[in-house]
Amino acid sequence: MNRSTFTIEYNVTTRDRLNPADAELMEKAIQAAGNAYAPYSKFRVGAAIRLKNGRILTGNNQENASFPAGICAERAVVFYAHANYPESTIRSIAVTASPCGVCRQVLLESEKRAGVPIRVLLANGNEVRIFNSVKDLLPFGFDSF
Ligand code: THU
Repeated sequence: MNRSTFTIEYNVTTRDRLNPADAELMEKAIQAAGNAYAPYSKFRVGAAIRLKNGRILTGNNQENASFPAGICAERAVVFYAHANYPESTIRSIAVTASPCGVCRQVLLESEKRAGVPIRVLLANGNEVRIFNSVKDLLPFGFDSF
């Protein structure tokens, strides 16, 4: 048996130190959180995606009285992107929370579709963590597609 390790490198910064493109994306994610429909959890999440064609799309969590029917902000915007811009893949995503496991798996497949790493920015208040690839957020994710 061989012992192995998996190391993840990411950058930690603050919102005011982001480059202009990242700052714009994070600002849109924060704005989008304001339109979340979260009467049950009261936890609003916003997400913003930058496509290869430069377009920015936003989404937020949408809850439902039938709880499992609700959807996270990340999946709302990722599926909207693929539905409406199937030829323009995702380059980066900014989220006002840390994605759940299901959203990480969905983003992993988007990264595979893109053929290049997706840059991921996660805000935690004023702090922002930046990952160079979805793979860093979901090591050993399901990958038989
Ligand atoms: N939620 C998201 O929108 N994104 C995440 O990454 C984690 C959780 C939503 C789902 C639910 O509406 C609320 O946050 C509380 O879990």
